[in-house]
Amino acid sequence: MSYGKSVLAFEEFGFRPGKVERVVRETSKMVSVYIKLHLPNLPRPGQFLMIWVPDAEEVPMSVSGAGRRWVRISVLGRGKTTSKIQKLRRGDLVGVRGPFGRGFSLKGKSHLLVGGGSGVAALIYASKTISDQKKECVFLIGAKTSSELPFLREVKRLNQKLLMATEDGSAGYKGVVTDLVEPILIKKDFDSVMTCGPEKMMVKTVELALKHGVRVQASLERYMKCGFGVCGSCVLDPVGLRVCTDGPVFDGRILLQTDFGKFKRDAAGRRRPI
Ligand SMILES: Cc1cc2nc3c(=O)[nH]c(=O)nc-3n(C[C@H](O)[C@H](O)[C@H](O)COP(=O)(O)OP(=O)(O)OC[C@H]3O[C@@H](n4cnc5c(N)ncnc54)[C@H](O)[C@@H]3O)c2cc1C
Ligand code: FES
Repeated sequence: MSYGKSVLAFEEFGFRPGKVERVVRETSKMVSVYIKLHLPNLPRPGQFLMIWVPDAEEVPMSVSGAGRRWVRISVLGRGKTTSKIQKLRRGDLVGVRGPFGRGFSLKGKSHLLVGGGSGVAALIYASKTISDQKKECVFLIGAKTSSELPFLREVKRLNQKLLMATEDGSAGYKGVVTDLVEPILIKKDFDSVMTCGPEKMMVKTVELALKHGVRVQASLERYMKCGFGVCGSCVLDPVGLRVCTDGPVFDGRILLQTDFGKFKRDAAGRRRPI
């Protein structure tokens, strides 16, 4: 008997059970959860998963690391679901859909990564892949204070150049991470810039990269329900791109024609200023 397309659709869009293998505190606000599960393909950097925990919502999470039989997500506690994810323990079960979306293009030999907040999760996986490909990478990470800077040891282990910015000056440069972007673009040639984090930070990074003639990609966090293009909750106005399937990684020039950095939709689909 052939189940044809319906089985394929379930494989692609249905839940897979995942078992929590390890939980690691990365910073005062971020926790990484290693989940054992079988994925047909290794996720690409920039792709995301829909994670469901019992008694909470299903939420999108970037892949922050992966192997053939495991994935890692790195979660900032924001509300009910992310707090529940942070409290998961070894042996707990979660539902996982995906990986979904288009990831970063890693074309070129030298890359500048600019991350803040939960956005560093997507970029750490990109930096690992860049390192595996023996390409060059400079990683700029920003946070309010030193205890909120994630993955510092991991970036150093990858042998990549790391520059930090903290708003209170407790580590690295005192100020916002985008202050570091222009000086490094002047000093060094990059084939591409990749950014993920708060939208205001990404807008500034995109503008600076384009000013210096460097290709730039930004990964967006917009409200998601289905994760694979049918519900419309993640749409970018006015062009109608869906962040879950056309993104979450977009070319910076395209984003500047949208509501990027200005508005985003809430759970009810209402446009809210950023
Ligand atoms: C592609 C993508 C990748 C992401 N990767 C990460 C990551 O690696 N680490 C991380 O900590 N966070 C990530 N997020 C954000 C994360 O999904 C939200 O923080 C989470 O859904 C909040 O849920 P909550 O119930 O804890 O909070 P709530 O109290 O329900 O909401 C807090 C805020 O989170 C946002 N949010 C809530 N539900 C969703 C949803 N279904 N989709 C998108 N945003 C939502 C809203 O802006 C809301 O104001 C990502 C989002 C997207 C779209
Ligand atoms: S989340 Fe449903 S269309 Fe993008």
